[in-house]
Amino acid sequence: MADNRAIDALYEENRKFAPPPALVKSAKTNSDEIYTKGGDFQAFWEERARPLPWKTPWSRVLDWSGAPFAKWFTGATLNVTESCLDRHAAQTPTKVAYYFEGEEGDSRTITYSDLLEEVNRFANGLAELGVQKGDRVAIYMGMIPEFPVALLACARLGAIHSIVFGGFSPEALADRINDAKAKVVITCDQSRRKGQTVDLKALADTALERCDSVEHVVVVARTGAEVNRVPKRDVDYEQLVSRQKPIRAAAECSSEDPLLILYTSGTTGKPKGIVHTSGGYLVGATTTHQEVFDLKPEDVYWCTADIGWITGHSYVVYGPLANGATSVIYEGVADYPDKDRFWAIIEKYRVTQFYTAPTSIRTFMKWGKAYPEEHDLSSLRILGTVGEPINPEAWMWYRDVIGQGRCPIVDTWWQTETGHMMISPLPAVTETKPGSAPKPLPGISADIVDDDGNSVPFGGGGCLALDQPWLGMARTISNDPNRFVETYWARFSSPGEGRWRYFAGDGAKRDANGYFWLLRRVDDVMNVSGHRISTLEVESALVDHPTVAEAAVIGRANPITGQATAAFVTLKAGVKGNETLIAEVREQAAGKIARPASIVFTEDPPKTRSGKIMRRLLRDISEQRKLGDVTTLTNADVVQEITKRAQLQAKLEE
Ligand code: PRX
Repeated sequence: MADNRAIDALYEENRKFAPPPALVKSAKTNSDEIYTKGGDFQAFWEERARPLPWKTPWSRVLDWSGAPFAKWFTGATLNVTESCLDRHAAQTPTKVAYYFEGEEGDSRTITYSDLLEEVNRFANGLAELGVQKGDRVAIYMGMIPEFPVALLACARLGAIHSIVFGGFSPEALADRINDAKAKVVITCDQSRRKGQTVDLKALADTALERCDSVEHVVVVARTGAEVNRVPKRDVDYEQLVSRQKPIRAAAECSSEDPLLILYTSGTTGKPKGIVHTSGGYLVGATTTHQEVFDLKPEDVYWCTADIGWITGHSYVVYGPLANGATSVIYEGVADYPDKDRFWAIIEKYRVTQFYTAPTSIRTFMKWGKAYPEEHDLSSLRILGTVGEPINPEAWMWYRDVIGQGRCPIVDTWWQTETGHMMISPLPAVTETKPGSAPKPLPGISADIVDDDGNSVPFGGGGCLALDQPWLGMARTISNDPNRFVETYWARFSSPGEGRWRYFAGDGAKRDANGYFWLLRRVDDVMNVSGHRISTLEVESALVDHPTVAEAAVIGRANPITGQATAAFVTLKAGVKGNETLIAEVREQAAGKIARPASIVFTEDPPKTRSGKIMRRLLRDISEQRKLGDVTTLTNADVVQEITKRAQLQAKLEE
């Protein structure tokens, strides 16, 4: 229902945590002067761009004359791999770029000099297969060292990579290959997941039955399994690279040459191929990685995201490598062979920064603190989260149990489309509040507006809009520039007045101190008896109950109230759900926000492979619609049980 009311800001969180004094002393960015500097955003970003090895300098920092299609560092040329590899291989050749930890416990250590050589070999190999600047290469792999090598080899040649997450189906892969007209596909024989293997090459073969553009498929042997080989088309990675030289001159690319396409699916329509270019994206990913994680040369940084998502692109590959960081890459899942695997990895490599998703944190909470307590986590300095709002209780658990009260938490809001972090604390500057991604980073500007585009005063909620261009902003949607304008810019911009505002799709509120609180996609805001209530706030109230590990709330159509609040609740390990507990949990939510009309207990909410709860499916279940495709879920088996329980609950309510 469209009205210009703001979203009701109901949940209040007043706990605050100042940066630890020792960190304030040691951090490079430790004063809020940086926000003042960020006010002149072009000068601010220009200063940060300078240390990178450009081949030709820019004539202009930003060209916004073709808004909303931005151009950053016009006239400049570079090759992003020279920032990520050559300068570190020259200055610190033996420094570790990646510690690789295989799911079965095998490991590899890759230095900057190793990585540069391998990337050069593979770039030469791809060139031998005919890949040239501007060609598109699809990558469909498991989390192994050859994955970043593949991205970087494309970038070395100026070819554009389009990564398709290794958990996606052949259909999804084929659609993306066809949209990008990829010439080469890079994959592995198999990937490992939870003690099992996934036949990636076989899945790719199925996809390739309907892809005409592909000339070659490069296959990395991860497990050594026998795979189908199509003569002439398929090439073994090892054979290809072993005959190449470890040197390759980096192609000279314009700052605005596309570096990558990454497809993102919205709630409707076909996936959008988000296009990121070279110079601005690299400066954005590098700077934010440095400043938000207070990166120091001796740190060991670990971002658990798969490289198939934007978080992996920006914060496993480009940002950390450009900063010369040492990172951990882990191949597998958090509960293999046991539920302490992540904590064992932190202990083994003495990880200093740990960056993960709220859904994982809530899962760790459900498993209990005995697992992290078995390990020495004293090396950790800073904890990060990304991907969805984090409930205050999960934030507190992360702080107390994983960070042992010592580590600041950086809750970083951004999107595939923004390329890099946009709203986040700076760990030695910002006082944090559990559940808030507090402020736009220096050089970034955001506002909260009502449906008419008017700024909502502090204390209120509405739509999150970005009202100033930034470095890593998507440049377009591949093959569909009109959709780019329509989807992101049309709603709150006034082109006639030269006013451009990007609408991120997210709802947010700002508290009395101007802190931002992300409230999820605006499509997830319920309208219950005329109140616009964020599902997130009801969930946070539910998770506040000591027995509740995770909650998913959706608005179910209701003839009287418009929508009714339907909650799906997962209890902590060992707790049994019954009618008394339902009543208790419901009253708890009622006391804080609003009483859910129904509560259904579930072992696990249905989740996508990226760990996001599939709310659309829960809505379909609640409104007793025929369910669509559930094969993209990690846990399709829970759907039947939830449906049964929801139907039972609906009968009880009648
Ligand atoms: O709704 C916001 C949520 O994730 C969306 C972007 O998803 P994606 O493009 O897959 O990128 C995820 C990794 C950057 C956003 O529109 N989101 C991401 N980070 C946060 C968040 N919501 C709240 N707080 C965050 N820190």
